[in-house]
Amino acid sequence: MTSVLILNGPNLNLLGQRQPEVYGRTTLAEVETMCQADAARLGIDVQFQQSNHEGVMIDAIHAARGVHGGLILNAGAYTHTSIGLMDAISSAEIPTIELHLSNVHAREPFRHQSYIAKVALGVICGFGPHGYTLALEAMARHLE
Ligand code: DQA
Repeated sequence: MTSVLILNGPNLNLLGQRQPEVYGRTTLAEVETMCQADAARLGIDVQFQQSNHEGVMIDAIHAARGVHGGLILNAGAYTHTSIGLMDAISSAEIPTIELHLSNVHAREPFRHQSYIAKVALGVICGFGPHGYTLALEAMARHLE
């Protein structure tokens, strides 16, 4: 069965409490429950992780090589700064979808820059938690 890693970066553990006017009131645990239901519907396996640490995220991407067919990555603020994460995706040679809850292009200019987009299949942003469903559907289709 196709397996997809959904990796969430810094501060996303606080989803539901953190700036709800920007990120909504759905918690990360609720997003995971939703993703597991989507995965069952799509006939894929999903592993869901979160870390506040760039190196831990890089390790998770390396470990995904040959184990998961795809990566859905909400790298949080590291999206805009991390050449390390970008290189990890290139090194792991894993199809990656960049994901954000908010529409980063309608926000501060520093959020318009993405190192992840340079090595991603595509980018989904601005649809809140529903973006995770959209990303899973796009990844399942890509891996068919
Ligand atoms: C985010 C957008 C990033 O700019 C921000 O740093 C986050 C969350 C999003 O999901 O909208 O932490 O990735």
